[in-house]
Amino acid sequence: LGPADLKGKSVLITAGPTREPIDPVRFLSNRSSGKMGFALAQAAQRRGAAVTLVTGPVALADPWGIDVIRVTTAEEMAAAVLGQAPAMDVIIKSAAVADFRPASCQSLKIKKTNQGLRLDLIKNRDILAELGHRRQPHQVLVGFAAESHDHLSEGQRKLREKNLDLIVVNDILGSETGFDVATNQVTLIGRKEIHPLPLLSKEATADRILDRVVTLLGEKAIK
Ligand code: PMT
Repeated sequence: LGPADLKGKSVLITAGPTREPIDPVRFLSNRSSGKMGFALAQAAQRRGAAVTLVTGPVALADPWGIDVIRVTTAEEMAAAVLGQAPAMDVIIKSAAVADFRPASCQSLKIKKTNQGLRLDLIKNRDILAELGHRRQPHQVLVGFAAESHDHLSEGQRKLREKNLDLIVVNDILGSETGFDVATNQVTLIGRKEIHPLPLLSKEATADRILDRVVTLLGEKAIK
């Protein structure tokens, strides 16, 4: 048995992709499998936290002992997360939320024609940025960043702009890291420090992220 260092804490984790409907049979989405977010939820539960997991559509079963809320679109994820957030001590946003959605969802299936098809996209709200702006002083807010280049500068920019305590920067170009694999290689960027982690299983990565979260909770309790 590991440490029960999150006992008494309420932790909200997001996982998986979102799906943005185009018509009754088609959608825009991404390759997130939910593995990273589910690993975080299970590790936090094992370390004593009361865990709520908001997940987009994934093939993973509900983990034992965790309150799971299943959503489909970015709008549904925003409603669930922003509704739960005020009661949480820790929020970790590992979901790959779609940045854009079709401007309208056609009620009938779009027919194939000889011409191409132009899709108008509009921006989804940035849930993490909204959480950052409403963050209470005792809350620890952790974001993820999936980057293919300029990892550290992009991570530092998102940390600052979204008012986060920690950002987990993911290199998504390696074959063993990022979307839909069992392992991950991340760099943890805080306000004062940068911790590159080696290639690890997503379970081990989750525990290393939670180690930082426990330290941050301790620092906030002293202030
Ligand atoms: O699910 P797996 O297959 O295990 O893969 C894990 C992962 C690669 C999806 C995960 O480790 C990861 O990197 N998740 C973040 C993916 C992402 O959307 O990154 P981003 O740089 O586009 O977004 C930055 C942050 O803003 C993220 O915390 C994201 O949840 C959040 N965001 C983004 C857009 C939006 N509209 N609302 C948000 O809250």
